[in-house]
Amino acid sequence: MPAPILVDLKFNPETVTRILKTAFVDRGSINLADAANDGRDFHDLDYALVWKPDADIFRRAGNLKVVFSGGAGVDSFMHLPGRPDVPVVRFVDRSLTVRMNEWVVMQCLMHLRGHSAHDQHQRKHLWADLTAPEAAEVTVGIMGLGVLGQGVAAKLRMMGFNVIGWSRTRKEIDGIETFGGADLDAFLQKTDILVGLLPLTPETTGLYNAGLFAKLRQGGALGKPVFINCGRGKSQVEADIVRALSSGVLGGASLDVFEVEPLPADSPLWDLENVFITPHDSAASEENALFRHVETQIARFERGEPLQFTIDLAAGY
Ligand SMILES: NC(=O)c1ccc[n+]([C@@H]2O[C@H](COP(=O)([O-])OP(=O)(O)OC[C@H]3O[C@@H](n4cnc5c(N)ncnc54)[C@H](OP(=O)(O)O)[C@@H]3O)[C@@H](O)[C@H]2O)c1
Repeated sequence: MPAPILVDLKFNPETVTRILKTAFVDRGSINLADAANDGRDFHDLDYALVWKPDADIFRRAGNLKVVFSGGAGVDSFMHLPGRPDVPVVRFVDRSLTVRMNEWVVMQCLMHLRGHSAHDQHQRKHLWADLTAPEAAEVTVGIMGLGVLGQGVAAKLRMMGFNVIGWSRTRKEIDGIETFGGADLDAFLQKTDILVGLLPLTPETTGLYNAGLFAKLRQGGALGKPVFINCGRGKSQVEADIVRALSSGVLGGASLDVFEVEPLPADSPLWDLENVFITPHDSAASEENALFRHVETQIARFERGEPLQFTIDLAAGY
């Protein structure tokens, strides 16, 4: 029997344990959440599937041939000591993309239709109609046109929004005006709703800051620009978001990710008007789909076929 796969997924531990029982039947798995595995050496293992793993995982498993991420991002383990110089495969999955599409479309529509104000009126039993622009009058600018960004762009187009996008290398996408890395300012000047779908790398750390918010279009159909982030929290400067919202540089925000998670109870973000907060659950990985994806990639690897969804180790995503 081939060596089992090492699993360290800081998801819901009961769910991971339950679903692992029926996954990887041909090789089995070693779940680091099981206290019986504390202190064990894993140098005889070939594969690890990780999400926010223990800091010493690569020191204990130094002979891995492939590292699999439990999510679309890889930032939770790329910096850990002893990470072997082997392919890193991230999770790309239809259901994850669909969930992210739903969340972003929902947030854009809530800002378009003034949902926060409606909600406040309802709580006060107030019958107060609001006028809202049509989606076509609003430009949504997506930062990051990868698997998720492109999925979101297509769904927003379907809803009638004008969509533009920015990525490190400029993309050609039907119906969407696109911008490359150097053209960030031109992109921001046209954007009414900014959607952050970037991976966390040294280049994207702290990118959503006061300087960037100040370049967004003022006086568009929504009046003030809106910031939506569902990429990574460390790409945003929360003190700047709070200041931009309070001073009117931003008119609203939707945040699924935070500099520190869980978002501390005393963060001012919780109480700001027209801010929607979700607990990093816009597009959670579904365990069954994740384990099937890893099984498929291991089978490809062992047949000598190229792995899919590998990251660029130099770029870090
Ligand atoms: N909130 C959640 O629940 C959740 C769930 C899943 C994923 N995420 C986050 O979403 C991120 C994106 O996922 P994905 O699958 O779409 O990733 P992806 O396919 O790797 O796409 C990443 C995009 O970001 C662009 N990019 C990266 N660094 C850049 C930089 N410095 N400047 C400009 N553009 C840059 C890339 O440009 P190029 O096209 O030129 O390479 C690419 O278009 C993940 O890394 C993860 O952090 C969050």
